[in-house]
Amino acid sequence: YPPERIRNFSIIAHIDHGKSTLADRLLELTGVISKTGKNKQVLDKLKVERERGITVKAQSASMFYEHMGQKYLMNLIDTPGHVDFSYEVSRSLAACQGTILLVDAAQGIQAQTVANFYLAFGEGLEVIPMLNKVDLQTAEPARAAKQIESAFEIDAGGLLHMSAKTGLGVDQVLPAVIEKIPPPGGSSGRPFKALLFDTWYDRYQGVVCLMAVKDGAIRKGTRIVSNHSKTKYEVAEVGIMYPEPTPTTSLQAGQVGYIVCNMKSIAEAHVGDTFYRDKEPVEALPGFVPAKSMVFAGVFPIDADEFDRLDESIQKLTLNDSSVSVHKETSAALGQGWRLGFLGTLHMDVFRQRLEEEYDANVLITAPTVPYQIKYRDGSTHFIRTPADFPSAISMQDAVVATMEPFVSATVIFPEQYMGQMFELCTTHRGEIQNHTFIDESRVMLKCRLPTAEVVTDFFDKLKSKSQGFASFDYEEAGYGESDLVKMEVLLNGESVDALAAVMHRSSVVTTGRDMARRLKEVIRRQLFDIIIQTAANGKIVARETVKQLRKNVTAKCYGGDISRKMKLLNKQKEGKKRMKKFGKVELPQEAFLSVMTSK
Ligand code: GTP
Repeated sequence: YPPERIRNFSIIAHIDHGKSTLADRLLELTGVISKTGKNKQVLDKLKVERERGITVKAQSASMFYEHMGQKYLMNLIDTPGHVDFSYEVSRSLAACQGTILLVDAAQGIQAQTVANFYLAFGEGLEVIPMLNKVDLQTAEPARAAKQIESAFEIDAGGLLHMSAKTGLGVDQVLPAVIEKIPPPGGSSGRPFKALLFDTWYDRYQGVVCLMAVKDGAIRKGTRIVSNHSKTKYEVAEVGIMYPEPTPTTSLQAGQVGYIVCNMKSIAEAHVGDTFYRDKEPVEALPGFVPAKSMVFAGVFPIDADEFDRLDESIQKLTLNDSSVSVHKETSAALGQGWRLGFLGTLHMDVFRQRLEEEYDANVLITAPTVPYQIKYRDGSTHFIRTPADFPSAISMQDAVVATMEPFVSATVIFPEQYMGQMFELCTTHRGEIQNHTFIDESRVMLKCRLPTAEVVTDFFDKLKSKSQGFASFDYEEAGYGESDLVKMEVLLNGESVDALAAVMHRSSVVTTGRDMARRLKEVIRRQLFDIIIQTAANGKIVARETVKQLRKNVTAKCYGGDISRKMKLLNKQKEGKKRMKKFGKVELPQEAFLSVMTSK
């Protein structure tokens, strides 16, 4: 297939607007998968993705299609639909020349539609808007078309109407792609040059790289070089995703396919890297900004004996998800564990779920925190990933000139009647409203700047409940800004418990401090002495609660009773102990950590 007869495209959409369903329909239409319904949603491969119905890791598939008597090779590059994974979206977009912007005709434009449009537009891609779910009673295609025109300033006349569910209009999708999306440039005659845009580890094949070949050709035996590391590799297999990896004799300019070479670990495969033929260096492609962790959380085994097994499971899981960053961490209260960095809280949830389900792990995950920055008088800047790294009250006074926190720039779209609630939600989360516009007679698009820390807790849940599910939300990183940060500590009988410390904005110290002390009191069992719970910030006590001592001996009521019952009771007590973390003299049940750490 010469480049003129290749089309590399993707489908971008807000969550649930029908991207995976449309992809399935296109693969059925071209005979890549059968219509029996057995391998529905082939693109959503991970188990969690199927369960949650969201796409996390992009998958791709090739199709052959005849149009006006010509045969075309169509490469569909899948993109994830959730805000946490917009990094994955932009790297998928780099491999194609155009994209279908799929909009649910009943729901209209949502925040993710807007964000995705600008991502694609920024990459210089041809964007074809299409309306899906026109079969629904509630569909309002004319209204959705108007929103598209006013939000994106593009002509929405002749917009394709379809139902990926019933199949209506789906036959016109590929012809539109062929006619509107330009073929990949490049030439097979030029020296080989390819962009690595995705990679995964396969148990049998080892490291598999998905590449978009820009120029030249690659086949088994070709010796290639990574521009990033200058390491040389020999290609063992090339092929296309059909939808499973299917070997071909070569991959030519314009094609998208996989290669397997002698890479030992996934760490060698840098997404965004350019590959060229040995001794024929080329100018590198632009590449990508690497994924940045937005959210950090401590992960600890519930049972310390499980540390090694958990270590292995985390290693295996991160093998296929290089966007998780891993650092070992030791906590006085929780023992040895890790501090993991995620793209967002959904990413964190997915990771936890996979650890528990696929690796049968029992873990405690601390409350999510964002990476703060501390600027010192000597001009240096330090990132802090864990509250333990936060400067002491003394150095805050003497050496620190500013504390900074990350911000996001957010887009919220909602029906007009929720305007009051949405504005209030933004301001109570320390947001700064930048502007709001009407995208049709009754829908509002609000732009605001919010501290990332506010977004990673319960912002999304509140947004949904305050708008009865009608508001949609998306964000992108917007750099660091100065912020009045303090560290809150939890003291049990005067001793600070590191794992319960948290960094926060000064304005939330009092409410959070009181809340924490109160919640801890509820879960700490009475012991043989009084337990004083205190929360403190900057050396000042914010709240204080007391758990009164327990006088009764557990075995007291068994005196004179039979010995086996006594033993049983003692054993029970011992079991209870196993799940306790001892801190100084105070024993904390696991629930204490969970109740304080999981967000309210
Ligand atoms: P992510 O993978 O999370 O991005 O979602 P998605 O955009 O891939 O959505 P998906 O294809 O999973 O579809 C979401 C829901 O909408 C499913 O229950 C589909 O059956 C349904 N759906 C998709 N297309 C249509 C359609 O044309 N009409 C109707 N009525 N329902 C549809």
